[in-house]
Formats: sequence, structure tokens, C-alpha cells
Amino acid sequence: MEVAAVLVAAGSGERLGADRPKAFVVVAGRLMLEWSVAAIRAAGIEHIAVALPEGESAPPGCAAVRGGATRSESVRAALARVSGAERVVVHDAARPLVEPDLFTRCLAALSNADAAIAAAPVTDTVKETGADRIVSATLDRSRLWAVQTPQAFRRTSLERALECPEAVIRAATDDSMLIERIGGVVRVVESSPANFKVTTPHDLEVAELLLGRRP
Ligand code: CTP
Ligand code: MG
Repeated sequence: MEVAAVLVAAGSGERLGADRPKAFVVVAGRLMLEWSVAAIRAAGIEHIAVALPEGESAPPGCAAVRGGATRSESVRAALARVSGAERVVVHDAARPLVEPDLFTRCLAALSNADAAIAAAPVTDTVKETGADRIVSATLDRSRLWAVQTPQAFRRTSLERALECPEAVIRAATDDSMLIERIGGVVRVVESSPANFKVTTPHDLEVAELLLGRRP
């Protein structure tokens, strides 16, 4: 097993507010997580460990793992099931529009980095404020990236990054920030806003329309 995928699907989907965990909502005729499983397989990756919420089972052919209380804890749990892989690509089940080619490009960009992460150039102007909502800075947009998944890692680097204090892991919004924290090299792989994360009911409507058009 040279390459494996970790698919995190254990979240409850509070902001979506559906009657079941987000990854198990039906989108254009398939469970949301099945779109990602199909893309991972189309990229030629056979070993997939899925972090699941209580009471749900993994798609056929995938290893099932009980997820954790936070996203990074779910990654850590699933990573233990692919301990034979040299490189691991982590993906959110909440990004069902991902294309196979993005997995391939992230894995290829790992050759001179500890992590290679999909990200889209930021198109809005981004400002920083205090609690009073008074603007303290306008960031230089040309240097900013909106980070997505997939994120490819050397497995040993990711394991080392995840061996951090519980407070750090709970606060992490992605895994590559834990690599930065231990001084690892994180490379960005250009992606597009089409690989958006389904977070709100509006996102689900857009995903339904776009995936419904796929053959
Ligand atoms: N995730 C996970 N385990 C958790 C929390 C999140 O595996 N304890 C996964 C989700 O299933 C999702 C991805 O991490 O595929 C990104 O998280 P997010 O979009 O925040 O999903 P939820 O946490 O489910 O949504 P919400 O924050 O609205 O509750
Ligand atoms: Mg969440």
C-alpha cells in the first residue's frame, strides 16, 4: 500500500441542519460521501479509510473507523487504519465536487514537501477587524489562498504533526497547519472554487445542481 486515502465523514453537519449527518445526505442520487469515494478511486487510489459518525457504515470496499470529536481527531483515527502507506491524501466528504485529477496533482507535488494542499486564489478583498468591527488591516490578496482538501502528506510527517497537545488539535481547522507548526514544508496546489465545501443549505442546492449535470 504505497498511497492511501483518509475520507473524513464523521461530522454532524450542524450548519446544514439536515435530519442526518451531512456526509449521508443524498446529493444528485448518491450519498454525499460516495461522490468523493468515486473520485478517489478514479484517481487510482484503492485503499480508503473512512471516519464515520456513530451508527453509519462505510461504502463497500472502504475501511470503516469511528470518527472523533473534532475533524483532526477523526483524521488521526482513520490514519491508524492506513499505517502501511507511505503517502496519505486526506479529503473532506463535504467536498463532493472534487475531481480525480486534484488528488493526482496533490500527490505529485509532495515530491519536495511534507504536505501538498489544494487551494484556490482568494477573489474577495480580505480585511481584518477587532471585536468592534473596525478595520485594522487590508490583506494583500495576491498572496492569499482559500484552502480546501484534498491535502496530501508524507504519512510519517502527518503522524508526527498529529502528536500535539489536545488543545492544539481541537483548534485545528485543517491538518496542514499542524505540519507548519512542526516546521514542515507545505506546498499549495492550485484548485478552483468549484471544489467548494458543502456547509449551508445554499451550498447543498448548488452541489445538487452541478452534480446532477454530471454523466
Ligand atoms: N469531520 C469529521 N469529524 C468531526 C468533524 C468533522 O470527520 N468530528 C469532517 C466532516 O464530516 C466534513 C469535514 O470534516 O467532511 C469538514 O468539516 P465541516 O464541513 O465542518 O463538517 P461538519 O463538522 O459536519 O459541519 P458543521 O461544522 O456545520 O457541524
Ligand atoms: Mg465542523
